[in-house]
Amino acid sequence: MSSTEINQASPLLQVQQLSIAPKKTPTRLLVNQVSFSIARGKTTCVVGESGSGKSLTALSIMGLLSKQLVLSAGKVLFNDGLSGEQDLTQLAAEDLRKIRGAKIAMIFQEPMTSLNPVLTVGYQIGESLTTHLGLRGEQLAAKIASLLDMVGIPASRANSYPDELSGGQRQRVMIAMSIACEPLLLIADEPTTALDVTVQAQILKLLDELKTRMNMGMLFITHDFGVVADIADDVVVMFRGEIVESGTKQQVLNHPQHPYTKALLACVPDVEGKNALKPIDYAWLPENQRSQSQANIMSEARL
Ligand SMILES: Nc1ncnc2c1ncn2[C@@H]1O[C@H](COP(=O)(O)OP(=O)(O)OP(=O)(O)O)[C@@H](O)[C@H]1O
Ligand SMILES: [Mg+2]
Repeated sequence: MSSTEINQASPLLQVQQLSIAPKKTPTRLLVNQVSFSIARGKTTCVVGESGSGKSLTALSIMGLLSKQLVLSAGKVLFNDGLSGEQDLTQLAAEDLRKIRGAKIAMIFQEPMTSLNPVLTVGYQIGESLTTHLGLRGEQLAAKIASLLDMVGIPASRANSYPDELSGGQRQRVMIAMSIACEPLLLIADEPTTALDVTVQAQILKLLDELKTRMNMGMLFITHDFGVVADIADDVVVMFRGEIVESGTKQQVLNHPQHPYTKALLACVPDVEGKNALKPIDYAWLPENQRSQSQANIMSEARL
């Protein structure tokens, strides 16, 4: 087997035993020994209650953890099929910057605030194309137009400012920015939570199509099991910083093993609206440990 074949054989991303804690209280783990992997062309969905560590896990892959936090253990092995496996946690800031936006891109949890209001959307889509691919002038304008087209926005809107677009259009601009350099891995942190269901369905379809067309791996964070059912290949369930269950979509949705996964699934509204807004049943937790999760019931009730 050639080295390229070996490189292709190992997954695109392997998160191994990742732990994150506040610098001030390093023993209070916010993410505790989290491990999962993502293959090219596949989507891994991370689900779990508010505060369970989903965003921190995603941010640590990108090397974007807040300075108040520390990655206390673990590896993030990234295999681009060319350079062999690299542990992103060990890369120099400069090397990580080259990967970020180019080979790994992220759609942030609050996209509405991630766009710069004083720059046109075309300019913002173009930034990473200039930085990473050196595109300028006509070539750059053509690429921006084709990206806007890909996400269903007329190319003429390149000269618009973010506040001249609807919420759904701004979300599409974020997607265009994230896929501009054709990343191998796309991390999407609840990218559709703020959108109405019709737009949400369109965006999910778009991301799923792009994943297939570009053979990207996708890490998709969501509260919504309906979304999981739509787009996941694999599912990771987090609870209080730990993975309580993981497996293929079929395994986790059809044969959940952990009481928390079962409780989450029991709250998914069915077609008749049965279960709608039913709080999660934390009966499986010892009584003295329930209060923290009870506080999250309102966000869980969105399921
Ligand atoms: N900079 C920080 N300093 C201290 N604690 C933090 C910091 N950032 C996040 N946390 C804590 O880490 C935990 C995990 O946060 P994280 O943002 O990963 O949650 P999440 O699963 O993404 O939740 P949500 O579904 O609400 O987005 C939370 O308890 C949060 O309060
Ligand atoms: Mg989050």
